[in-house]
Amino acid sequence: METDEESQDTPVSEAQIAVHWREEEYYQPPAKFIAQANAGDPSIFERFREERFPECFKEYADLLSWDAYWHTTLDTSNPPFWKWFVGGRLNASFNCVDRHLAASSNKAALIWVPEPEEEETRAITYQELYKRVNEFAALLRDFAGVKIGDRVTFHLPMVPELPVAMLACARLGAIHSQVFGGFSGAACGERIADADSHVLVTMDGFYRNGELLDHKVKADEAIARAHDLGCEVDKVLVWRRRPGQYASKSPMVEGRDFFVDELLPDYRDKLVEPVSMPAEAPLFLMYTSGTTGRPKGCEHSTGGYLAYVAGTSKYYQDIHPEDTYWCFADIGWITGHSYIVYGPLALGTTSVMYEGVPTYPDPGRPWRIAQRLGVDIFHTSPTTVRMLRKVGPDEPAKYDYHFKHMTTVGEPIEPEVWRWYHEVIGKGEAVIVDTWWQTENGGFLGSTLPALQAMKPGSCGPGVLGIYPVIYDENGDEVLAGSGRAGNMCIRNPWPGIFQTIWGQPEKFVDTYYAKYCRDRQSKDWRDWPYFAGDGAVQAADGYFRILGRVDDVINVAGHRLGTKELESASLMVDEVAEAAAVPVIDDIRGRAVEMYVSLKPGVQASEEMSAKVSRAIDTEIGKIARPKNVWIVPDLPKTRSGKIMRRVIAGISNFTDVGDTSTLANPEIVDVIRHHVQKEKAARGEVPRELSREELEEIQSFGSVE
Ligand code: WTA
Repeated sequence: METDEESQDTPVSEAQIAVHWREEEYYQPPAKFIAQANAGDPSIFERFREERFPECFKEYADLLSWDAYWHTTLDTSNPPFWKWFVGGRLNASFNCVDRHLAASSNKAALIWVPEPEEEETRAITYQELYKRVNEFAALLRDFAGVKIGDRVTFHLPMVPELPVAMLACARLGAIHSQVFGGFSGAACGERIADADSHVLVTMDGFYRNGELLDHKVKADEAIARAHDLGCEVDKVLVWRRRPGQYASKSPMVEGRDFFVDELLPDYRDKLVEPVSMPAEAPLFLMYTSGTTGRPKGCEHSTGGYLAYVAGTSKYYQDIHPEDTYWCFADIGWITGHSYIVYGPLALGTTSVMYEGVPTYPDPGRPWRIAQRLGVDIFHTSPTTVRMLRKVGPDEPAKYDYHFKHMTTVGEPIEPEVWRWYHEVIGKGEAVIVDTWWQTENGGFLGSTLPALQAMKPGSCGPGVLGIYPVIYDENGDEVLAGSGRAGNMCIRNPWPGIFQTIWGQPEKFVDTYYAKYCRDRQSKDWRDWPYFAGDGAVQAADGYFRILGRVDDVINVAGHRLGTKELESASLMVDEVAEAAAVPVIDDIRGRAVEMYVSLKPGVQASEEMSAKVSRAIDTEIGKIARPKNVWIVPDLPKTRSGKIMRRVIAGISNFTDVGDTSTLANPEIVDVIRHHVQKEKAARGEVPRELSREELEEIQSFGSVE
């Protein structure tokens, strides 16, 4: 805690970013967990020490079954387009399905929980998965003409047909590109065109919050948009949520749209030989958003990616074949690809999938699922934890489930929320790993080895095995651990799970992730090519990293760079606050001022006193410099479908600017509610809109961009 008033007028250089975090206490893993952990022997650190790089990753690759072993572990001849396990050949579908048949054909590979509670949960054994993957692969190949290297776009909800389709593509050596089911048709169409896909796999409808949504209608929009962008889709394969019943109003287009359940009988019991693919052949594309324009199709490899997710699933998720593992995320995001499908299935475990929203029909739902299925490993995001804390704080205690291990991913978790996760959801019995990584990375980069490294709320931990992170300042100088300074999170070395390129934009790949800190463009030594992650971070003396959010999520108040996360974390120290978001307002005197948006726990009334409490908490935790200009109490915050708070939308409201496209939000209706309330209040307080410069406008409109 510091107030730092005296340095207010001194300009703060990039290398002296003030950090106001308080050090948190350690939590030790329970003995029972340690006794059964996959990584319980500290010699593992020795095996992955830097001198052993890159050969250390042989240990991950050896978790897979290879058709041909590789001759070169890491080929650095064309930086930064690294190649892993060169010369090796394998098939991802074989690794996730076929090879488990001998020992576990009757074990559930997937357990699918539909959202309607009265609908039966479906267990799909490895044998059944094998059959379904083969049949769909045959259909893709023989009916839709899919060949090695073709891109096939999916726009599927959380149904078992999605992993089946992924593994069917992988079997054929085709590249899948799943677009999150909650995205609009237009967003899907853009991704179809970008990938130049000619086959779309979709579903007629799915359940969300008790409603059967019409999903096929989005396929028509997607195809129209792709057509406008010069890409023709020849075949649309439509799964039906209930075979034989069509849940959509959109007509099937003759010769283009086909019901999968009507085609499948022709492929009954067909077997498709898994195509032996080079390790560096692309396995899939996963689109992610940059700050501007065209979405980035992150291209992930077959051998390196699969080895990396298998290794991290084993040591960090601590997955054993006999576990019942539930990653409560959507397969439409990288987390789901790596840690619902590829990692867990490569290890031959049972992976649970849930179709719907966590709070349907009530906030006890996740815990009923966990209890009934005997889930012992649980993986989710801070947003979900915050939501469950807000609407069902007493629910976990009512159910008899026991997690030995829990994970969080996607954004920094506030220590307050972490403690609640640990005590209430984890019942004080579960170890927690906070996993920091990105779509681009394939798998975890920063975390703790659950049996060997203590947990620290709010910190992801040190670099994971074989990952050597570093924080650089704007000049490329290292920011030392324990210095209390923040800087740019980078990884010094390549790793097997790193994406290979941005599909169709190799220059952007180099520019975005490597140009900033590359020491020599001609060099073929990986040491000259640190990976720039675009996240701000601070490293404590113990080597643990605390991620402060995207580097553009910073509010510069009178020369002090305040991380949105630290402001939000301070606000959450107020007991009644459920969620908080910080945004900048252009301020003539201080450059930027902070504005806080908070939502309260159920039953708590909004009041002046509540706003004052939030201000005081920030005063105390960070200092007067960070005191918000306004604290707005709102019913909910605008969020993306993956649960990230859209700070740019509220930043737009605070600054009276255009908030941009809000149609892809999970809760677009909240935007007008907030705007009306805030702008009316501002008018009453005499705050008038002022003309912004182009740079100011740009800053506000891309603030904290996640979309
Ligand atoms: C943020 C999700 C803090 C970070 C796997 C990163 C996190 C972005 C964490 C990537 C974490 C992810 N702690 N921040 N444990 N995990 N982030 O591509 O800003 O959807 O750059 O990948 O989320 O989000 P993405």
